Parts: sequence; structure tokens; C-alpha cells
Amino acid sequence: MTTQRTLILLKPDAVERQLIGCILSRFEQKGLKIINLRYLRFTQELSRQHYAEHIEKPFYSGLEEYIMSGPVVAAILEGSEAVEVVRRLIGSTNGIEAPPGTIRGDFSLSNRQNLVHASDSAASAEREIKIFFPANIHQH
Ligand code: CMP
Repeated sequence: MTTQRTLILLKPDAVERQLIGCILSRFEQKGLKIINLRYLRFTQELSRQHYAEHIEKPFYSGLEEYIMSGPVVAAILEGSEAVEVVRRLIGSTNGIEAPPGTIRGDFSLSNRQNLVHASDSAASAEREIKIFFPANIHQH
């Protein structure tokens, strides 16, 4: 077992629906530690940086509009195999397909308004943590 860190975002629909506490609780109940947390609003520049791999996709403009539509919460979670464990807790991208018991499976009916983002690999986690918590390397 490797202790890992991963980056999550509670997206504008999670904040709007007042699900911040509920969703963070799921991660805490699993045993993951919240080791950094902030509230912020996406700019177009931040969206293009964070979602760089999706810029050419047909859904990008809708994704950008949505991620900028309200405040989000960014957090670093830490625990054993955190990258994979968090992906499994969240469920598949489309809330319609995500299994019951997962966050998207329980709270989302959409493939855009799917409440949570999580890094998809250890390399992505490292890249994304630096975007949202540039000083983190020196704090821990
Ligand atoms: P996320 O895990 O943040 O990573 C990329 C995001 O793009 C994804 O969650 C969805 O919100 C969005 N997304 C992925 N596929 C589609 C799609 N087919 N249509 C609309 N949005 C999508």
C-alpha cells in the first residue's frame, strides 16, 4: 500500500446544492485525510490549465461555462492508494451510469453536472495539486 495524495474539486453544482459537507464527509468516513482545502472561482485561464487535455473535445465550451458558473471547493486528500480509492468513491463520469453508493451514483443525473472532479492518476494528481495549491510542496 502506498500513501498517496489526490486533488478533488467540488464543482459549482455541489456548492449550489449545499452538498460540500455531505461529500467531504464521505471521504473522511472512508479514512482519507483532508490535508488542504480552499474555496475559489475558476477563471477561463484556470479552466484551460486544469482541463488542458479536454480543450479540443466537443464538450469543452460547455464544461468551461459550467466550471466558471459559481464557486468551487478544491481539496487535497491523502491516504492509502488515494487516487484509485477516490475515483471509486466518486463513480463513473455520467451520473446516470454511476453505481448507487458512489457520490455521482447517489446525487447526479448528468455527465457534466457530476458534482466532483478527482485526479485520474498519480501524475495528474501531482500536476493538479500544483495548480490549486502552489505553496503545498513547502507546507508539508
Ligand atoms: P471531470 O472528472 O471533472 O473531468 C472532465 C469533465 O468533463 C467531466 O468530469 C465532466 O464534467 C465533463 N465531461 C466529460 N465527458 C463529457 C461529455 N460527454 N459531455 C459533457 N461533459 C463531459
